[in-house]
Amino acid sequence: MTDMSDLGEVTARPAMSSPATSKIGEVILDVHSISLNFGGVKALSDISFDVREHEIRAIIGPNGAGKSSMLNCINGVYQPQQGTISFRGKTFKHMNSREVAEMGVARTFQNLALFKGMSVLDNIMTGRNLRIKSNLLWQAFRNPFGIGPAQREEIAHREFVEQIIDFLEIQPYRKTPVGQLPYGLQKRVDLGRALAMEPQVLLLDEPMAGMNVEEKQDMCRFVLDVNSEFGTTVVLIEHDMGVVMDISDRVVVLDYGKKIGDGTPQEVRSNPEVIKAYLGTSH
Ligand SMILES: Nc1ncnc2c1ncn2[C@@H]1O[C@H](COP(=O)(O)OP(=O)(O)OP(=O)(O)O)[C@@H](O)[C@H]1O
Ligand SMILES: [Mg+2]
Repeated sequence: MTDMSDLGEVTARPAMSSPATSKIGEVILDVHSISLNFGGVKALSDISFDVREHEIRAIIGPNGAGKSSMLNCINGVYQPQQGTISFRGKTFKHMNSREVAEMGVARTFQNLALFKGMSVLDNIMTGRNLRIKSNLLWQAFRNPFGIGPAQREEIAHREFVEQIIDFLEIQPYRKTPVGQLPYGLQKRVDLGRALAMEPQVLLLDEPMAGMNVEEKQDMCRFVLDVNSEFGTTVVLIEHDMGVVMDISDRVVVLDYGKKIGDGTPQEVRSNPEVIKAYLGTSH
């Protein structure tokens, strides 16, 4: 669990400017009255919040608060018993992960979901799968004497992946099996896999967990760069309050499946209910 007494303390802060709030647009993702139960466990109770285009929206809360479950509802892994989720004004009750991905929502995982034996390049390439149009029939018609559409497409995808590798500064490890990389770099590869989907909304589940200060600073920088350079909207679960206070535009606070706070980092930091939850005095 986070050191919850340090709400407002800034740790692991890289030298960076604050998020460019001026570029924040319309609501892109609207979570309305979501409830999710696992048997008797109420993982989420009537949660509503919105995410605006181009913002960095943090979701925080103690362990078991329902943060990962919330992301799982947004990206179609869990089907909530109640509530709806709207993406660019289109409302959904049930969607599967593929439909969500096709709409432009990508995510990284709290427990890495990479192929450890595969290279960095090939792992990131798996993020392109949705965009690979050539089907098996096209591939069967590969032209042995020249470059056919399937090969041309593959070259374009590889070039895109190489750009992501450059952006994330992992060129030296392109061919390295992911399982041989330090944890911090594996997290970066997972981000690369998500970026390969060219998402409009990027859901990050504790991208800095288990990292040392330097690795956290790097990851913060990449998240900010993705946000500012590509305009990608980011929903970020993070335990490090310093990071949250530093890089997010707005913060949702969950505790025992309930929303107990929502606002700017400053507003949330001074919310008595949030302080109580984090100090663990009573519930
Ligand atoms: N697949 C599942 N089956 C049963 N219970 C689950 C499942 N997923 C989550 N839960 C329960 O739902 C609650 C919320 O869990 P969740 O993983 O969303 O919390 P979290 O805020 O992400 O916690 P952490 O900070 O530890 O990652 C917990 O009580 C958890 O045990
Ligand atoms: Mg979690």
